[in-house]
Amino acid sequence: MDRFTDNIDKQIEFNQGKNILFNNLEIFEFTNDTVKAISKTDRLHVNSKQFLIDYATDKAIEEFCRVNQYYSFDSKAKNDLRKIYADLLESFQTKTDSIENISKNHYEKLKKWIKESNPFAEKIYKNDLRKVNPVACSEYSPDLQIHVLKIDIEHVMQPVLDVGCGNQGHLVRYLKNRGIDVFGLDRCKFTTPNLITADWLEYDYGKEKWGTIISHLGFSNHFNHHHLREDGNYIAYAKTYMNILNSLKVGGHFHYAPDLPFIEKYLDNNQFYMKNSGINHDDFKMTIIKKIK
Ligand SMILES: C[S@@+](CC[C@H](N)C(=O)[O-])C[C@H]1O[C@@H](n2cnc3c(N)ncnc32)[C@H](O)[C@@H]1O
Repeated sequence: MDRFTDNIDKQIEFNQGKNILFNNLEIFEFTNDTVKAISKTDRLHVNSKQFLIDYATDKAIEEFCRVNQYYSFDSKAKNDLRKIYADLLESFQTKTDSIENISKNHYEKLKKWIKESNPFAEKIYKNDLRKVNPVACSEYSPDLQIHVLKIDIEHVMQPVLDVGCGNQGHLVRYLKNRGIDVFGLDRCKFTTPNLITADWLEYDYGKEKWGTIISHLGFSNHFNHHHLREDGNYIAYAKTYMNILNSLKVGGHFHYAPDLPFIEKYLDNNQFYMKNSGINHDDFKMTIIKKIK
């Protein structure tokens, strides 16, 4: 199985950074190794084939998110992509078409899928070059995040949830090592028990469950992006924002950066106390919301 997964990794690497919305999809190709490997998959058990379809789906989504962190893929988009990879496997096995046609059809389907699941992509990449420049998306040191989010480690109310904790979960690991009951949530694939793989718009935060919720350049950054985007999913973000606040225990806090002035002004002052501050005297601001009842 490792041989097949290595091959998927290499195939994705081969097409890395190419612009799927570029007019000429001939820039996308299957490597000879991919063609050889897929032709052998008919010998595999149905469960192994499903495993490879899921693996290719996850890897492709990871690559899209690496290029642009604002791509978002809900359960429907993921299932549609699985179907595209299942069809690809099927066309290789039935061998009723040439490799060139299989390749052309496959990349046409991928292009249609990204246009449907993330319509904003067409606007920004349609007239772009063969290669796209990735949108900056980094992970930051625990010290920097603690400073920006103004977290008082000695008195932090537990349990803690870091929303969009990053692939490395730096802050989660740091807090865990300090004996704090902490969980991280991100769409990355994790195998560590206190790091949860989930979409923050689909996760069930619960009610009066968390002592502290934190999110550094995560949820609120994307909420801002959707607020400003013409076709933004800001309603889903606003609902999740309220779900997050309602999942705090009374006396609990939500610390996030950047701030969200366009929604913070509508919060019920009887239920939430809000403090907004600048970081290092520039325009970048963070917010702490305390649930008071
Ligand atoms: C700029 S990184 C910040 C990571 C971390 N908070 C830090 O400061 O080091 C943003 C993170 O948000 C995650 N993310 C983006 N959209 C998400 C979604 N819909 N659900 C869960 N996580 C998401 C990304 O995977 C990425 O790890």
